[in-house]
Amino acid sequence: MEVYDETELLRENERLRAELARVEREAADKELQLERYAADLRETFKQERTRSQELRRSYMATVRALSNAVEARDAYTGKHAERVAAYGIEIARALGIPLSDAPEIEFGFLLHDIGKVAIPDAILYKPSCLTERERALMAQHPVIGAEIVRGIEFLGEAADVVRSHHERWDGGGYPDGLAGEQIPLAARVFAVADVLDALTSDRPYRPASSLRAARETITSEAGKQFDPRVVDAFNSIPDATFERIAAETR
Ligand SMILES: [Fe+2]
Repeated sequence: MEVYDETELLRENERLRAELARVEREAADKELQLERYAADLRETFKQERTRSQELRRSYMATVRALSNAVEARDAYTGKHAERVAAYGIEIARALGIPLSDAPEIEFGFLLHDIGKVAIPDAILYKPSCLTERERALMAQHPVIGAEIVRGIEFLGEAADVVRSHHERWDGGGYPDGLAGEQIPLAARVFAVADVLDALTSDRPYRPASSLRAARETITSEAGKQFDPRVVDAFNSIPDATFERIAAETR
């Protein structure tokens, strides 16, 4: 029977313990390093998020300034652009399309009529009927607007809303006579929001419709002026939502 040298065993035991302690220390160091690395990453992400939120806020301020410049000329529409943008976002949300997450879409809603800056006051506010020539010039506002926003990269798809907000589902709109899904979705959503606002706002020549009457008019235009799917989404939104937006943007 082999006899172990007890001292030898103790020494071996000691050596193994030391080795284990070293390995544990190394593992702890690595863990610490990883934690630091994760914390750095978290910090970077946080800064990045803050930066992009700041950027978005400054974009939004710029877009609002532009949209206010257009609205300032128009006495009776009040905060039309803001209201219609809020209606549009609700409809987009009800459609279940991530459109509402795309800030460019909201920019497009706010800037839809920016092309009107090029329309003379005498035409824009003419109390009587427009002549054929005046009407043709007025119908250019989506084209002019799209030209204005074209070179601004952060506006992205906003230009689609600006250009196509007067198109009709049945192809009878302007300026391009697009039909059905040829019309960018955001513009189809906007068209309903815009008409909702027009119908429920007072005009010099007629009083505002009730929300209920506006719903009936819009519903009767499903498949004609409007995308039926957008009309369905619009009708799924309770009155209270539109009433709240209207009260906030009076
Ligand atoms: Fe317009």
